[in-house]
Amino acid sequence: MVKADVRSKPDHGAFTLAPASPKPCNVTHILITDPDDPRIAPYRSIRERDLTGREGLFMAEGEVVLRLLARSPLMRTVSVLVAQKRLEALADVLAPLPADTPVYAASQAVMDAIVGFPIHRGILALGRRVEQIEPETMLAALPPRALVLGLVGIANHDNMGGLFRNAAAFGASAVLLDSACCDPLYRKAIRVSVGAALTTPFARLRPDQDMADMMSAHGVSPLALSPTGDIALADLSRPPRAGLLMGAEGPGLPMELMRKCRTVSIPMARGFDSLNVAVASAVVLHHLAFAAQEETRP
Ligand SMILES: C[S@@+](CC[C@H](N)C(=O)[O-])C[C@H]1O[C@@H](n2cnc3c(N)ncnc32)[C@H](O)[C@@H]1O
Repeated sequence: MVKADVRSKPDHGAFTLAPASPKPCNVTHILITDPDDPRIAPYRSIRERDLTGREGLFMAEGEVVLRLLARSPLMRTVSVLVAQKRLEALADVLAPLPADTPVYAASQAVMDAIVGFPIHRGILALGRRVEQIEPETMLAALPPRALVLGLVGIANHDNMGGLFRNAAAFGASAVLLDSACCDPLYRKAIRVSVGAALTTPFARLRPDQDMADMMSAHGVSPLALSPTGDIALADLSRPPRAGLLMGAEGPGLPMELMRKCRTVSIPMARGFDSLNVAVASAVVLHHLAFAAQEETRP
């Protein structure tokens, strides 16, 4: 690694047009001047790469997400690519990374050429999950009091990101995905989750595993959220371990799954079909986290 100097931003104030004096950059980094440099190959054309698979790697964008990634025990930062002008300001974000994590820096023009579009935030990081978590392992490790979000057939990355964001915001311990859900570590899902996909434990069921059965076997009460649910949300008391099953736009939850659960509805204006799934998750998570009475039955 080399230490390169980064010039401070020239001051183009009303009367001062003299070039600023060079200012040393204290962040150890590798300067990239050629967009075709093989060392930054994973960052090349990242939009296309999203569609063609990422070999177990994911791409994190922006300062807030990088901050969470660098500190997440669930994830490893493989490398970082930042616009040279942002390096100095990111020193505290980069500080928790192991010393051997490559930090690449490039001019904004070179960075745009690498990723294939103008990337104004100028901060990317390549990450990898430390390990795949098995559903049984994740549920067995839950504390006595826990909220678990159970996602069924969520194929939209915006919704996936929003669901993780809400799970983290309301203190859910884990997210359980069925086999039809999209990848929470897709670039857009990570971005929409504001990094919550990197810090909230999640596990994916195999196609032959049933979400309600799996939750019940681990002492998690499965609650199916549906506009036609039997229990109005205000009347729902909080089980010590609650599993909130949420379905996809369009079909919602399968009937055979709902039959194994208590069903819960968020009352809406008469004649309206449903809420967006991420919005519905926020309403029910808030109720169970802060408003609901404790369930008294064993
Ligand atoms: C767009 S809705 C699906 C609508 C579908 N027609 C149905 O009947 O479920 C997506 C998911 O959000 C949740 N949801 C949306 N509105 C809800 C409501 N009013 N009460 C409870 N859950 C709701 C449910 O989990 C649902 O599966």
